[in-house]
Amino acid sequence: MNTSRVVQAINRQINAEIYSGYLYLAMAAYFESASLPGFAGWMKLQAQEELQHAMRLFDHLADVGAPMAFDAIAKPDTEFTSPVHVFEKTLAHEQEVTRNIHDLYALAVAESDYPAQVMLQWFVAEQVEEEKTAAEILDTLRRIGDKSHALVALDRELGRRGA
Ligand code: FEO
Repeated sequence: MNTSRVVQAINRQINAEIYSGYLYLAMAAYFESASLPGFAGWMKLQAQEELQHAMRLFDHLADVGAPMAFDAIAKPDTEFTSPVHVFEKTLAHEQEVTRNIHDLYALAVAESDYPAQVMLQWFVAEQVEEEKTAAEILDTLRRIGDKSHALVALDRELGRRGA
């Protein structure tokens, strides 16, 4: 029932979700160094969420008795020049993840893997949220421009995530 192409693609997506977490941790480190603790905390929670995404995929493979495959996690981008730059990269990254999830879903449909389709529907919806959130923060940062008081206020607001 599980076709190996879907299983292989889900295994690659587990790796990609862990990479996303590592990328957001690199972004958290940038915000720590920029003395923006609210942004840093927000990114740390984002990194944790990505690991939870990996767990969902892992649990699915475990539940259907599919084999797991493990590979190296790529080195994340660590070149960030401003909060706007970070969120441009965040949005671009999430758009890429969305394309990958859609490709994975299309594969599960083509291979008639119904359990994978049901599991992946959660990710399709989650990606809408992920892109929306990143786009909203990017838009706010662009409007803030070089007004440092507004940046400090946004830092405080993002720091309340999960509180
Ligand atoms: Fe796993 Fe940010 O999507």
